[in-house]
Amino acid sequence: MTEIRPVTEAKAVKVPHLPDAQTVTEVKHWTDRLFSFRCTRPASLRFRSGEFVMIGLMGDPDPNTGKQKPLLRAYSIASPSWDEELEFYSIKVQDGPLTSRLQHIQVGDEIILRPKPVGTLVHDALLPGKRIWFFATGTGFAPFASLLRDPQTYADYDEVIITHTCREVGELTYGKELIDSIRQDELLAELIGEGFHEKLRYYPTTTREQSPKMGRITDLMRDGTAFRDLGVEPIHRETDRAMVCGNLAFNLEIKQMLEDYGLREGANSQPAEYVVEKAFLD
Ligand code: A2P
Repeated sequence: MTEIRPVTEAKAVKVPHLPDAQTVTEVKHWTDRLFSFRCTRPASLRFRSGEFVMIGLMGDPDPNTGKQKPLLRAYSIASPSWDEELEFYSIKVQDGPLTSRLQHIQVGDEIILRPKPVGTLVHDALLPGKRIWFFATGTGFAPFASLLRDPQTYADYDEVIITHTCREVGELTYGKELIDSIRQDELLAELIGEGFHEKLRYYPTTTREQSPKMGRITDLMRDGTAFRDLGVEPIHRETDRAMVCGNLAFNLEIKQMLEDYGLREGANSQPAEYVVEKAFLD
């Protein structure tokens, strides 16, 4: 039977689009504090794994003028540069100006994405080395979700160690599933190898809920536990490179530790042995 629609419904209604709009294609809620989402990628957007972009939503209308301004924050791109979509991993802050609203986005909604990727957590900012450490706390895992899926990471290093410290076990799930997906990916699995020869090492720890490995990564390195568990020598300037992304206190503490091991901070313009970026907190 042919469905007859009223003429008014068939008319194309022009919906005003957000500036630099991208469409949400998937949303996953990991805990009551964490979610991730995917969205369309502008055809012209090129980025290096580990970089961030400004994303957000339209803010509330100004009570005096009624005008709306975009509400944007820096988010690391969690997807690799070869992915046709973009992925982001975010905290939910109940009174956070952006994330209090962003956490409610659904498939088909639009977000604003300024297509100007920047950042220091890029391979170009490091001198060649044998082993790379990715140190993350909380949503600081995001840039590494990109770098861990970048074939260059495994081409450049013999060993890739990702540490992730979170308060609770559930906050590790996004990272754990990502690591599992890499090991199951045909192309990446071939690059990382298998068993004893596997290049990728994953070291998750929790601080406020019981898990197989408890404690802050900084303390576990200071007393030697992390190096013993991983069966590697302590960090050394000749061989080791590091990228850090977490909360401010963590970044400052591990930065000092890396300096004490003899590593120097690098930048795009002057590559060295480690780089740091602050994880976004609304
Ligand atoms: P802790 O529970 O001992 O504070 P947050 O969710 O607050 O960003 O924290 C994420 C993780 O980072 C938590 O497990 C927290 O441990 C840890 N953390 C916070 N500060 C530091 C620090 N200075 N060094 C190492 N880990 C830290």
